[in-house]
Amino acid sequence: MITLIIDGQKITVPEGTSVLDAAKKLEIPIPTLCHHPKLSPYGGCRLCIVEIKGMARPVTSCTTPVNEGMEVTTTSPYIERLRRTVLDLLLTDHPNDCMVCEKAGDCTLQELAYFYGLRELRFQGEKRIYTKRDGNPFIERDTEKCILCGKCVRICDEIQGVGAIDFAYRGFKAKICPPHEKDLDCEFCGQCVAVCPTGALTGKMWALKGRQKDIREIDTICPYCGCGCNLTLHVRRNKVIRVSSKEDTVNEGWLCAKGRFSYGFINSPERLTKPLIRIAPKESSEFGVRSSGLNSSLVTRHTSHFKEVSWDEALDYVAERLRDIKEKHSPDAIGALASARCTNEENYLFQKFMRAVIGTNNIDHCARY
Ligand code: SF4
Ligand code: SF4
Ligand code: SF4
Ligand code: FES
Repeated sequence: MITLIIDGQKITVPEGTSVLDAAKKLEIPIPTLCHHPKLSPYGGCRLCIVEIKGMARPVTSCTTPVNEGMEVTTTSPYIERLRRTVLDLLLTDHPNDCMVCEKAGDCTLQELAYFYGLRELRFQGEKRIYTKRDGNPFIERDTEKCILCGKCVRICDEIQGVGAIDFAYRGFKAKICPPHEKDLDCEFCGQCVAVCPTGALTGKMWALKGRQKDIREIDTICPYCGCGCNLTLHVRRNKVIRVSSKEDTVNEGWLCAKGRFSYGFINSPERLTKPLIRIAPKESSEFGVRSSGLNSSLVTRHTSHFKEVSWDEALDYVAERLRDIKEKHSPDAIGALASARCTNEENYLFQKFMRAVIGTNNIDHCARY
């Protein structure tokens, strides 16, 4: 273990801990842009600089490991002036179009510019101009807003194991792009979008649907597979407009493309929201069912085959048919397929129902295939 002093406070941390992480343990805030706790240290943005007694120049706290007896100063007029200059330089070549940016209100760069009061920029120079030209279906790439923090590159490589994007060119021309500057063609997990600290990467389907301040967050579980990742639905006017995931969850904030982008069905007008019973012509008079409150396209498509019923009617019907088949043909005439899209508990109950209530072992699961 290593003992050091940060802003006059003593702390003991394991060897190899960065100065940034040691400061975090003491709840001392140090601004960062390129740092992510689950990615390899990069040291690109220079915002996390601190002074260390005995060192000639400030060092980046995210890449500097602690040393026995180290004395660290995280803030001083000198350090704050340097951080301000770093931000000033970043914003010099930034579109500054917060009034129309999707990320406004949830953007680390914007927050830091506000914190440092950077209204007037000191430096003027050439700006990078890029056309937004990416035909991929999910991710909007606005390279002019990229601050080259490299988080997207690292997450795609180190966490996702895909390596779909990387730095290209050098100096002023440096940019992040897929190989040969082609359109992004990857897993579309959106991890890169989730970690981008600016509006350079956003979801295409989020555009103009609502910003962070407009939304209500609702935590839930992904309905797509048995991994059961935690989702946070961003809801505006009772519509899901975005999905994210929190870091302190079982999936650590990571999602796949289905969890992150495949939520369109929730607001689909074609979604089934009431039970339907298939009516064979000879049975059509038996069920006294109410007429449809479903949207017209569904009704038009199914009028001749399905009738909308209440849950009670649907459950009574299913129970009656199962009892009927069991009595006439034995329990083994009935089989059931469970689903990976149900929870463990639902699947457990389903097999229990088939074995204990119906009396058959004819139960299987789609995931087995
Ligand atoms: S969406 Fe996922 S796979 Fe595609 S570039 Fe981003 S992190 Fe990589
Ligand atoms: S696209 Fe975003 S995450 Fe990637 S380097 Fe640029 S600012 Fe950083
Ligand atoms: S986000 Fe992907 S991996 Fe996670 S539960 Fe949903 S479908 Fe499964
Ligand atoms: S956070 Fe340390 S250099 Fe960017």
